[in-house]
Amino acid sequence: MTNHKVIVALGDRSYPVIVGSGASTELESLLPKTAKRAVIITQQNIPFEVKLSLPNTKIFIGNGEQYKTLQTIETISQQFAKFGLTRSDVVISIGGGMVTDVAGFAAASWHRGTAVVHLPTTLVGMVDAAIGGKTGVNLEQGKNLVGAFWQPSAVVCDVDALKSLPERETRCGLGEVAKYHFLSGDDLLSLEMTSRIARCVEIKAKIVSDDEREQGGRAVLNYGHTLAHALERSSGFALAHGEAVAIGMIFAAHLAHVMNRIDDLRLAYHYKVIRDVYGLSVSIPNTMKRNQLIDLMRLDKKAIDGLTFVLDSKNGIEIVSGISEKYLNESFDAMQLL
Ligand SMILES: NC(=O)c1ccc[n+]([C@@H]2O[C@H](COP(=O)([O-])OP(=O)(O)OC[C@H]3O[C@@H](n4cnc5c(N)ncnc54)[C@H](O)[C@@H]3O)[C@@H](O)[C@H]2O)c1
Repeated sequence: MTNHKVIVALGDRSYPVIVGSGASTELESLLPKTAKRAVIITQQNIPFEVKLSLPNTKIFIGNGEQYKTLQTIETISQQFAKFGLTRSDVVISIGGGMVTDVAGFAAASWHRGTAVVHLPTTLVGMVDAAIGGKTGVNLEQGKNLVGAFWQPSAVVCDVDALKSLPERETRCGLGEVAKYHFLSGDDLLSLEMTSRIARCVEIKAKIVSDDEREQGGRAVLNYGHTLAHALERSSGFALAHGEAVAIGMIFAAHLAHVMNRIDDLRLAYHYKVIRDVYGLSVSIPNTMKRNQLIDLMRLDKKAIDGLTFVLDSKNGIEIVSGISEKYLNESFDAMQLL
C-alpha cells in the first residue's frame, strides 16, 4: 500500500508527514539536501532502526519525564560538538513525544537552529507530539516550561514501530486519537487504523497551519485536558495522560450536555468512541474528590477568565470561559462522583 502524505502548510517552512507501514524507507529522501552528516537521538529500549547512507552517530537519552531536562539538552549539545555537527546537517529523532520534544529543542538551539526530522514511534508521537513544532523540556516547577517553536523538515510515521509499543502506551495514544473524532465532523470510525492515524495528522496539520503559535484556535487540541490535568495531579500521576484525557473528554461532553450545547446523541457518541471503540475507562476513580478537582481546574493554565473548558457544540469544538460551578457539579453528578 502506498504511504499517506500530509503537508503541514506553513509557507516556506511547510513540511510533509508520511504515514504508513514501512514509511521509514522514505527517510533518506526527506533529509535536507545540505546535510552531510546526521545525529540520531533515541532511547535504548526503542527497537526501531533506520538505514542511513550518510555518516551518522547515535545519542541515547534517558527514559521518562525526569530526563526531559536542560541537563539532557546540554549533554546532547556537547555530543553534537564532539561529532562536529554543523548547522547544515540534520538531527533525527526516533522515539515517543519525550524524544521528539527533546530532540526538537536541541535542534532548535544548536547553532540557533538546525534541521530536525522526527520519526515518532508511539501513537502519541504520531498523532500529536511530532507535528506542529512545539519542542521543549521540563523544570522542577512544571512541564514544558522551557522550549521553542521549531518546525521539523519532515515527519515519518512508520506504523510498524507501533507493534512493539507496550499496551498502556497504546491506550494513552488512543486517548489522543479519540480526541480527533470530536475535533472534526468526520466519521473516523469508517477508516482502518493507518488511514485513521493519517486523518488525525491531517486534522492536527490544519489546526497548526491556521494557528502555529497557539494564539487562538490551536487551543482546541486541549479537548478533555482541563479535567485531565487535574486528574493526573490528583492521582499523583498514577493516571497516565492519555487515560486522563479520555475521562476528561467524557466530563467535557457531560458539561456541554448540561449546558445544552450538545444533545443526548452526541453525548452517547462520546461513550461509543471512547469506551466502546477504544476500550478506555470513562469513570472518574472514586478516590478523587470533586472539590479538589474543581480547585485544581481553577489553576489550569488556559483558565484566563474563571473556569475554562474546551467544549463541544452544534457548531464544533470551542473554548468557553467563565463556566459556573453549578454546571460542573451537575456533570460530576451525571458521572456519579461524590
Ligand atoms: N510537542 C507536542 O505538541 C506534544 C504533544 C503531546 C505530548 N507531548 C509530550 O510527549 C511526551 C509523551 O509522549 P509519549 O506518550 O510518546 O511518551 P514517551 O516518549 O515517554 O514514550 C513512552 C514509552 O514508550 C517507549 N517507547 C517509545 N516507542 C516505543 C516503541 N515503538 N516500542 C516500545 N517502546 C517504545 C519509550 O521509551 C517510553 O518508555 C510528554 O513529554 C509530552 O509533554 C508533546
